[in-house]
Amino acid sequence: MEQQKRYGHFDDQHREYVITDPQTPWPWINYLGNEDFFSLISNTAGGYSFYKDAKFRRITRYRYNNVPMDNGGRYFYIKDGDTVWNPGWKPCKTPLDFYECRHGMSYTRIMGRKNGVEASVLFFVPLKKWAEVQKLTLKNDSNETKTLKLFSFEEWCLWNAATDMENFQRNFSTGEVEIEGSTIYHKTEYRERRNHYAFYHVNAPIQGFDTDRETFVGLYNEFSDPQAVMEGKPRNSHAHGWSPIASHYIEVTLQPGESKDFVFLLGYIENEQDKKFSAPQVINKDKAHALIAELDTTEKVDKAFAELCEYWDSLLNIYKVRTGNDKLDRMVNIWNQYQCMVTFNFSRSASFFESGVGRGMGFRDSNQDLVGFVHQIPPRARQRIIDIASTQFPDGGCYHQYQPLTKRGNNDIGGGFNDDPCWLIFGTVAYIKETGDFSILDEMVPFDNQPGSEVTLFEHLKISMDHVIKNLGPHMLPLIGRADWNDCLNLNCFSWDPNESFQTTENVSEGTKAESLMIAGLFVVTGKDYIKLCEYLSQHRDTKTQSDNNKTSVPLCLCVDFKAEAERMQQAVDAMIDAVKKHGWDGEWYLRAYDFYGRKIGSNECDEAKIFIESQGWCTMAEIGAEDGMVAKSLDSCKKYLECEHGMVLNNPAFTKYIYEYGEISSYPEGYKENAGIFCHNNPWVIIGECLAGRGNDAWSHYAKILPSYVEEKYQTLHKVEPYVNCQMVAGKDAFKPGEGKNSWLTGTAAWMWYTVSEFILGIKPDYDGIRIDPCLPETATDYTVSRRFREAEYEITIHPNGAQKGVKAITLDGQPVTGTVIPYSPGKHTVEVTM
Ligand code: GLC
Ligand code: GLC
Repeated sequence: MEQQKRYGHFDDQHREYVITDPQTPWPWINYLGNEDFFSLISNTAGGYSFYKDAKFRRITRYRYNNVPMDNGGRYFYIKDGDTVWNPGWKPCKTPLDFYECRHGMSYTRIMGRKNGVEASVLFFVPLKKWAEVQKLTLKNDSNETKTLKLFSFEEWCLWNAATDMENFQRNFSTGEVEIEGSTIYHKTEYRERRNHYAFYHVNAPIQGFDTDRETFVGLYNEFSDPQAVMEGKPRNSHAHGWSPIASHYIEVTLQPGESKDFVFLLGYIENEQDKKFSAPQVINKDKAHALIAELDTTEKVDKAFAELCEYWDSLLNIYKVRTGNDKLDRMVNIWNQYQCMVTFNFSRSASFFESGVGRGMGFRDSNQDLVGFVHQIPPRARQRIIDIASTQFPDGGCYHQYQPLTKRGNNDIGGGFNDDPCWLIFGTVAYIKETGDFSILDEMVPFDNQPGSEVTLFEHLKISMDHVIKNLGPHMLPLIGRADWNDCLNLNCFSWDPNESFQTTENVSEGTKAESLMIAGLFVVTGKDYIKLCEYLSQHRDTKTQSDNNKTSVPLCLCVDFKAEAERMQQAVDAMIDAVKKHGWDGEWYLRAYDFYGRKIGSNECDEAKIFIESQGWCTMAEIGAEDGMVAKSLDSCKKYLECEHGMVLNNPAFTKYIYEYGEISSYPEGYKENAGIFCHNNPWVIIGECLAGRGNDAWSHYAKILPSYVEEKYQTLHKVEPYVNCQMVAGKDAFKPGEGKNSWLTGTAAWMWYTVSEFILGIKPDYDGIRIDPCLPETATDYTVSRRFREAEYEITIHPNGAQKGVKAITLDGQPVTGTVIPYSPGKHTVEVTM
């Protein structure tokens, strides 16, 4: 194997990843902001900002897939004599004497040194503020007085990130700015229907500025040599149309050893309709002034930063493990949880692989993301569940996506993905188990956001289950619709037209026999959860409503016979299990699907793609046919046919030609994406299957293969994307370059890795009445401790594996033996000892 170059390392104490070479194999990014105002920032300060919605409220402009890569960002140019450089190396690419980028929890610090000057920039979005802070510290480490010319730079996006990149006949005439002191305001379209504007401010007097890109950069120059900077002379340009930018010019003199701070602020403001203007054509800046006043000194900014750090301390204190294995601990305690927050916030909208103009929030994606996030901020998860359920249709089907700004279902993509409904149960059950808040089931939630259509959330869950039951095919297995979890298995699409979308082209579903074993497994897993929920409600409804000292509240108003409902669903689940055993088993593994004509997919009888991972994952998680050895055989087949050095591939062998009955899956070259790529998202399903089967060694070895910290150690160059988070896909064994990662950050992998390690490997599983302890470990595991904040309680749980892979022998709670494996919930601090 070629020697792998290293570009950085973990700093666990500060919860940072430290990048030491700006020329990473791909931009390695971070996210700023936790609610409302967000930024993406690369290790060279590239990226952009937006308010809530990366498509409709884009604040700064970015050029995707550009040459050179990663163009556009917040740039500081420092002109020191004839040398012009940037602290983050780009865009000038002047060689630096020192470079370092530290990506931390919702902040990034970039530092560069050149010719005795050190420039360090701290980027973050303060809690509850609609602004990105950029605190620049300039320090003179030389023995001579330095006179520096400092230029800042941001380029405005004309708000709608999609039309911003295409409608130039209009765009080039609409741009408008105002300049007031050290603040540059961007107010394009404010004169008409927009009631929002943005600004870029610095807390120091400026000696010049620019707001017109062409004047500042020069038409035939680049970001790496803007004319104004190269000549050391701002133009004081005022943009009228074309491309408005914001650049401050500041002359800085530093004595030897002296340092100075500058606080730059990129802010977003919304005004009420009747308070838009302070004079004809002049925007009302009151709110901007107020926001600036909150963040205009180093002290105020340092305080806001300390608050942000405390916020993350408290979030990351909810679940903390000490195993003595740094590579595991840092993923569990820091990066996996961090990535879960990011996927919860962005779904699949904005990354360096998702342009932010394409997709909104996915119905299935957001439900899965919830499971990685719900322990962090339950009230936000609760709201998300309501938002998602509000885009369901009365028949239980759902919009596949919705827009975060409007929260309305997205008509461009519509519905018909038949796995979608089940995920609502998955997300809701996780929420109730974490919080004990059954009242969410009483919430009145509309269909398709139509006022007047509201029913209880419980009713939404019920029709979700029913949607599957009412859409069964000839083998009594679930009809697949446009696709199931695998967006690219389009069994009713039949497209020969490259201009058609595989997902949204009208399906030929009339008379279809296309059924999905993945949905069958998902239905059994979520069905069992649904049954347990109903049983719980039927047992506790009467007793619990009477005692008000109990923290959990069970819905009163539901006129549901929960016992009968549990029994009804048990029959449906049993029937599904029978159907899978009868029609879904191929001898060594579970089939994947039946196609439109009722032919097997994912069978030994097929020429290619004989085995798929999704049905192995879901049917083993559902433990279908465990008693007949099916689960063990399926898991063994995953090891035999799907596993490779970098994880488990989605299908094997890869498709080598396009099969129009199958759709997009066979459109990909071998080893990539849904055609035999390692789709990290679905590896945890098999790992959970392994855990349920008690095969801790196998579970661990699959898990470690896609655990970023293990990959980081071995493959920085090959892996290419950020080594501190999971990516959606790693090229599979049939690919040109196995092991190369793509599509980092926004992937369901984050939530699934978290769910897998926290609940199934380390074995700390929230339940309605307490925490269930059921680890599944490699036999080499040694004693470990998990600190878990749970509702109003704090548990300190120490597990003694004693070489066992599975099976809890004894538990004590505060010294007293516990029967069974659930530690009953009670507020306060508790110590738990577990012997396996
Ligand atoms: C992408 C989609 C997700 C889908 C998966 C498999 O990650 O966001 O919804 O399940 O691909 O196709
Ligand atoms: C493409 C991708 C798939 C993704 C889908 C979303 O099909 O291959 O991963 O889920 O687009 O629309």
